[in-house]
Amino acid sequence: PKKLLIDADCGVDDAQAIMMALAAPNVEVLGITCVHGNTTVENVCRNTLRVLKACHRLEVPVFKGATKPLLGKCIDAGHFHGMDGLGDVPDPDAPGLDLIQKEGAVYAMIRLVNENPGQISLVAIAPLTNLALAVRLDPSFPSKLKGVFIMGGNTDSRGNTTVCAEFNFAADPEAAYIVLNEYYCPTTMACWEFTCHSKLSWTFCANWLAQDTDKARFMERIFRYSMGVSVSERLQKEFVAGTGLVSCDSYAMAAAIDDTIVLESDLYPVSVELTGTHTRGMMVLDTTDMLKKSHKVRVMKKMDLDRFMEMMMDALT
Ligand code: BDR
Ligand code: CA
Repeated sequence: PKKLLIDADCGVDDAQAIMMALAAPNVEVLGITCVHGNTTVENVCRNTLRVLKACHRLEVPVFKGATKPLLGKCIDAGHFHGMDGLGDVPDPDAPGLDLIQKEGAVYAMIRLVNENPGQISLVAIAPLTNLALAVRLDPSFPSKLKGVFIMGGNTDSRGNTTVCAEFNFAADPEAAYIVLNEYYCPTTMACWEFTCHSKLSWTFCANWLAQDTDKARFMERIFRYSMGVSVSERLQKEFVAGTGLVSCDSYAMAAAIDDTIVLESDLYPVSVELTGTHTRGMMVLDTTDMLKKSHKVRVMKKMDLDRFMEMMMDALT
């Protein structure tokens, strides 16, 4: 089976991506490492356990990682995911944090790649703080990965969190910088604009959630809040006309599960802006090779959306 390690800040789309991985045939989820982002890392740990419980997969080890970005100020995405990161519909029977592994996330990441050299695809769907710390503790960490799949960054300087920055990069620009400049392994990116252009219809979403399964009922509850935000006037003004279901993290996950789902992509040297007044956290796409970087990342342009919808469906079946 394909071995995945998932680094998440378990908000609603992280939950969707995790459920996709757990449902995929021939995929082994070696662990889920948690990081600050959509909400506090404690909430992220709790949310991850709730997702695993909904899927009857509490045997998957969950590790607690970085509580804050490397340098900048902590932000969250409570306005979209709910203050608890999962739609503010608490479950009184949620598994307790005693189920979180004693080993820290970054140590676990390094241990797991050493146990499975060249075999693990790391799916990073959150601020990249844990990944940056991993390469600092073990500079050979990236070279032992099969590849990394990142949801984050943007390709045309339009952000979703600040004027110019996408959330996962805005939440820890230094970490994103370290990863994009030091992870010399095959890297695939689902950037913000790509996810917006790959949105699914609300009709699909309704059918998806209407499946007669506990997983679909769980998703309907946790997703209600963000769906409301998605159809709000603010987002209707998005640059891609009309709204729809954009499960950002699931695109990176789908590519990690089945690479043939990527129909078009381009290779670019990339970096991250760290000091601009309005541009801090913005991804920089070096289309003219001015940075003279040998390492290029694969930026997804087009995905087989029929196949993607099947994978989304299966996640809740
Ligand atoms: C990213 O930010 C988070 O809110 C989502 O979970 C996703 O990882 C989208 O910009
Ligand atoms: Ca996320």
